[in-house]
Amino acid sequence: MEKFVVAIDGPAGSGKSSISKIVADTLNFTRINTGAMYRAIALEAQKRNIDLTDESKYDFLDDITVVYDNGVTKVNGEPVDNEALKGASKAASECSKLKRVRDRMLTFQRNSAIGKVLMDGRDIGTVVFPDADVKIYLDASAEERAKRRYLEIKGTPIEKPYDEILKEINDRDYEDKHRPIAPLKQADDAILIDTTSLTIDEVVNKIISLINEKLRG
Ligand code: DC
Repeated sequence: MEKFVVAIDGPAGSGKSSISKIVADTLNFTRINTGAMYRAIALEAQKRNIDLTDESKYDFLDDITVVYDNGVTKVNGEPVDNEALKGASKAASECSKLKRVRDRMLTFQRNSAIGKVLMDGRDIGTVVFPDADVKIYLDASAEERAKRRYLEIKGTPIEKPYDEILKEINDRDYEDKHRPIAPLKQADDAILIDTTSLTIDEVVNKIISLINEKLRG
């Protein structure tokens, strides 16, 4: 089949990952989690002990490939540990500001869109696929997103106080929305879904109907 792209953008904790996975699995789309790809680059940068903010230190980008393949993030064909990826939020936010990093990721992301694809991230509807067939912008209040994260990690070794999580979410929103290149923002033609008071099922069903409507033409 020809290419059909669904772009799902939104801030940290808006439910992008879980919702994208369910929608893609239900409709048999290939899902590409671009946040995981930025996290993989951040881990590679950390491995090399470079200053994450210094673009001139990123020569290694020319020698690596990053793909998101069926739920697994791979660097040079090797799977990256999921726990390590989860721990790279701040570093990913840092290195994703750099033009050099974004340019390289753009190539990886555009090349990986074959057939029916659902890609989620921050700039998919605005930069990576401005002509995407369906564009969704998922949002939720910072307090609700912090509450979800708090409940998700409560009782695990990475448990944290709610206030600390809320601060991290607000800081990351600020960084993602104010960077000069490809900042997080809703594309003019994206459909906004505020998930603050919706269940995962409600959001999933809404997105599936929008995609089916478009597929039927
Ligand atoms: O979605 P996530 O939390 O896994 O993303 C991690 C970081 O990567 C996020 O702070 C911003 C960056 N990112 C980006 O700049 N562009 C994307 N398309 C996806 C993620």
